[in-house]
Amino acid sequence: MKILAIETSCDETAISIIKGKKTLKGDDFTILSSHISSQVKIHAPFGGVVPNLAKREHIKNLPILLKKILKEIPPPLGSRAPKLDAIAVTSGPGLEPALWTGINFAQKLAEEYKLPLIPVNHLEGHIYSAFMHEDKFIIPKNIFPLLTLIVSGGHTELVLVKKHLSYKILGETLDDAAGEAFDKVARMLGLPYPGGPEISKIAKKGNPSAINFPRPIINSKDLNFSFSGLKTAVLYYLRDNPKFSKANVAASFEQAVVDVLVSKTLKAVAEFKPKTIALGGGVAANDRLRKELLKKIPGILLPEKQFTGDNASMIAVAAYFKAKAKKISNPSASWRTINAQGGLKL
Ligand code: KG4
Ligand code: ZN
Repeated sequence: MKILAIETSCDETAISIIKGKKTLKGDDFTILSSHISSQVKIHAPFGGVVPNLAKREHIKNLPILLKKILKEIPPPLGSRAPKLDAIAVTSGPGLEPALWTGINFAQKLAEEYKLPLIPVNHLEGHIYSAFMHEDKFIIPKNIFPLLTLIVSGGHTELVLVKKHLSYKILGETLDDAAGEAFDKVARMLGLPYPGGPEISKIAKKGNPSAINFPRPIINSKDLNFSFSGLKTAVLYYLRDNPKFSKANVAASFEQAVVDVLVSKTLKAVAEFKPKTIALGGGVAANDRLRKELLKKIPGILLPEKQFTGDNASMIAVAAYFKAKAKKISNPSASWRTINAQGGLKL
């Protein structure tokens, strides 16, 4: 099965074509072509993603990326459409003006190519990203129950996947997401957007035990998270210590976030005894988080850094499993039936 997927939920425009097939061991994938166009430089002067700018850039970039992909995977002779089985698109969660650009583009393609359209939850993509490799990879069939810690700019969730497409949210953030906390603290330190990579870069030069920041609700019985109190603690620390060391603040803040994430993941492992444990989302690029999770949970699957951020290949993989389960629209009705859902849940 060949799927072309489109991702425009935030500030990356991405298109990918993957091929998937069922084998004895599981499902076998090949990424045939994948392109991402990042808008980071455009949003950086505003210190965050500006939804209408994101929309404008997606509208500009989608046809450019499609052209590149069609050059690499040309349609068969005599045809205008590449040989595909479905079009997939992220329908949420994310910024609605941005999501709509991808959905509208996907709807037109599906109509033109006479293909079904598969709406995908962005977080389903992040869950599959831990299994992906550069060109070819297998998602084994015996991975369940799978526990995934999703840490992105908008989400912090512990999800139990009982089988493909069957999710139970075990815990989630009560306020800020982990990535959001990184971005906000970076802004307090005068670092550019996106703040996560900047904090982790300067944290490498700091002492993670220099400042004892709070680890909010680390000992609560549930599997929820909270990062807004930690963010406020950093704000007060900066106000009360004008000669602070940026590197020490960054390292100590990062350590506090990592301690909470690792502790709650261990708690979920003890409670639910999953067969496979994985990490996903933009914050999965954080080296301290990766190192400490690996130390405490040696078998944990960490996404390759090229797949931690938003990309369309992970959306295509999730769409493949939806197509296999026949969660697929009727080609003639497909362009009518999808709405952007900014707050879509798993
Ligand atoms: O998954 P993603 O690319 O977009 C969303 O779906 O939200 O995640 C973006 C988030 C941003 O908050 C960014 O600061 C954070 O991931 N991030 C990091 C690192 N790289 C990206 N946070 C901490 N350390 C990093 N190395
Ligand atoms: Zn994401």
